[in-house]
Amino acid sequence: MKLEELKLDQGIIEILKEHEISEFYPPQAKALPHALKAENLVLSIPTASGKSLVAYLAIVNRLLIEGGKALYVVPLKALAREKYEELQLFEKLGLKVGISTGDLDDSDPRLARFDIIVCTSEKADSLLRHRVNWMNKIKVLVIDEIHLIHDPSRGPTLEVIISHFKALNPKTQIIALSATIKNATELSIWLDSKLIQSDWRPVPLREGVFYKNEVKFNDGKTLFIEGTEKTSLEKLVENSIVNKGQVLVFVNTRKSTISVANRLSLIIEDNLEKIDKKNLKELIESFKNKLPELTSVDKKLFYCLEKGVAFHNAGLSSIQRRVVEKGFKDRIIKCIVATPTLAAGVNIPAQRVVIRDLWRYDPNFGMYPIPVLEYKQQAGRAGRPRYDKFGEAIIIAKKEAQKEEIFNRYILGDTEPIFSKLGSQSALRMHLLSSIASNFVDNIEGVYKFIDSTFYAHQSDVLSLRDDIDEALDFLINNGFVERINKDQFMSTLFGKRTSSLYIDPLSALILKKALEKSCNSEISSLSLLHAVCSTPDVRSLYLRSTDTWVEEKAEKHKAEFLVEQPDISHDEYEWFLSDLKTASLIEDWIEEIYEDYIITKYDVGSGDIYNIIETVSWILHAAREFARMYNFGCLPEINDLSLRVQYGCKKELLNLVSLKGIGRVRARALFNEGFKTINKLRGVPVKRLAQIKGIGEGVAKSIKNQLGESPKGEEKELSEFFVKKKTRIK
Ligand SMILES: Nc1ncnc2c1ncn2[C@@H]1O[C@H](COP(=O)(O)OP(=O)(O)OP(=O)(O)O)[C@@H](O)[C@H]1O
Ligand SMILES: [Mg+2]
Repeated sequence: MKLEELKLDQGIIEILKEHEISEFYPPQAKALPHALKAENLVLSIPTASGKSLVAYLAIVNRLLIEGGKALYVVPLKALAREKYEELQLFEKLGLKVGISTGDLDDSDPRLARFDIIVCTSEKADSLLRHRVNWMNKIKVLVIDEIHLIHDPSRGPTLEVIISHFKALNPKTQIIALSATIKNATELSIWLDSKLIQSDWRPVPLREGVFYKNEVKFNDGKTLFIEGTEKTSLEKLVENSIVNKGQVLVFVNTRKSTISVANRLSLIIEDNLEKIDKKNLKELIESFKNKLPELTSVDKKLFYCLEKGVAFHNAGLSSIQRRVVEKGFKDRIIKCIVATPTLAAGVNIPAQRVVIRDLWRYDPNFGMYPIPVLEYKQQAGRAGRPRYDKFGEAIIIAKKEAQKEEIFNRYILGDTEPIFSKLGSQSALRMHLLSSIASNFVDNIEGVYKFIDSTFYAHQSDVLSLRDDIDEALDFLINNGFVERINKDQFMSTLFGKRTSSLYIDPLSALILKKALEKSCNSEISSLSLLHAVCSTPDVRSLYLRSTDTWVEEKAEKHKAEFLVEQPDISHDEYEWFLSDLKTASLIEDWIEEIYEDYIITKYDVGSGDIYNIIETVSWILHAAREFARMYNFGCLPEINDLSLRVQYGCKKELLNLVSLKGIGRVRARALFNEGFKTINKLRGVPVKRLAQIKGIGEGVAKSIKNQLGESPKGEEKELSEFFVKKKTRIK
């Protein structure tokens, strides 16, 4: 379909053309007439078929005509950035685009000035809880990757956002973008929307199964790859690289991403050209400059990067991840070996995707085969419109007998239906409290009506549902979050309101409150508070390995310090207690300035895990501080110091120095050890003197001087004066 056929604003058409969009794809042509008439829409079409553009045009077209705002909700921060950058193309038309993925206890007032706001689902939920007044100006709500309703941790939030919007403003147009799922009709009925389905893909993607030396594809063709000594994976990767294609390999564990990348590096290195090697060197150099601390994982990554390969998993820090993704997008890195964390929604240039593992380990269920939906998401990273003319997804069969089965199940088979996960008690108590605390409902009928509007109710039988709701409500009433005004009516207490706006699980709030009460009558240490924080369900604790015997010894030694009751050794809960203690110990090491690399080895985690734990612990400490303030608990100063120490990863004595921009814990320690113990002590010190300190250098030294409001003029004189002063002092 030609762009002009839709009577869009000429400005929109020009922007599209400037960005090489000259016509609409068939599923877009089917969806756009409805989208532009402000109808609700579920788009359940294949990966890479341009779902986002339909949503963008619905937003831009409507806002240009009517004014108002739009909210674009995505599951991951990385995806938020991609969508934000794409939407910025429309700023030329006078629309302002904003992004918000951060602090959940914040109404983010700056957002009021944007017309289009991209955010994560948790942020959207938190904005609804804060009752920000621009929410009722939202004309279009986009939910990207809506099939994640099926995900136990993210799903409940997604469907609650939609239900709240439907109630607050029934006229809000809802556009839901989904992978192809079996029960898309059910989803569209729930959303009262037009359903657009198709199996069309702009870039042909053929899928196949590899066994021994042959790939059998679903287009009937076969590909023969020679070689006997190499493994199947090595053959497939080499074949791609020789043909100048980029490859994305999916494996099932983090450890495998590293070991497989290592193995593949030998093959890929042999096929690199001079210019590739030069680009890779530059990539590594710029990466090194961004690193706060060099870890063994960074070194492993450098080793692979030098040879044109990278690994990608949830343990990577955001810097590591960005370098890998950008290097691959710029076609400098030829191959990424990843866990499925890379699969959802991203646009990258992989001509071939190889899926090595179809099985995954879960601590509760053991090994299980991945869902077809997940396979399709992985396969769908191959052959993306702006990057490649065709794509291939190849699954490796380990035995001949599996060939047929894999082909039928994953390539020819249907994706699974999705199911609501709002029925879990933790999701119900959290979202019920938020509905009551934000005065969305105030009586039992209101609660039932709200739940009735969710996908959960749409899929469940009413009787079991009421039992679950009553149980969650009882929890909230019995623990002081909600109080009854009369038999059917209730309201949230101050404690309930604060818990809801802090965006934490009510059970976490309860654990914190009890721990803080206890802290008033006991000697507390950093470990006491950290352990209490790590005992809340919002902090995902580290797995306890059989070799972690030190944790039990530590529990015994610090028995008197715990603010959370220690379960009996014979009890199942005891292992959880130790896991929480292990997690608290990681943060304790971090604030004692233990090197990141040592923490990585001791706890068997990646930098990304450390930063995730720091982020969650900081967030729960913030909640603890709010409760301490609210109830006048005496431990407020300890919590304040601890929060800063967790944020910066340092001892209390460095807190003054780390408040300078560009000075992290490592540089602050170097300055401190040279006698510059506070910001005041840095005044009057010449740039040259500071630049001599390890890890500081001239750039950072100048930045310090700028922050102190000192110009680096007359340096020579100052330097000699400084050394004289210092000598006199030493005498
Ligand atoms: N009509 C078009 N012409 C050319 N390119 C297009 C068109 N529509 C979309 N694209 C491009 O196609 C790519 C994929 O689009 P998009 O990210 O929206 O895919 P998607 O359907 O959301 O896939 P996924 O399910 O993997 O998230 C983007 O780079 C986008 O700019
Ligand atoms: Mg998408």
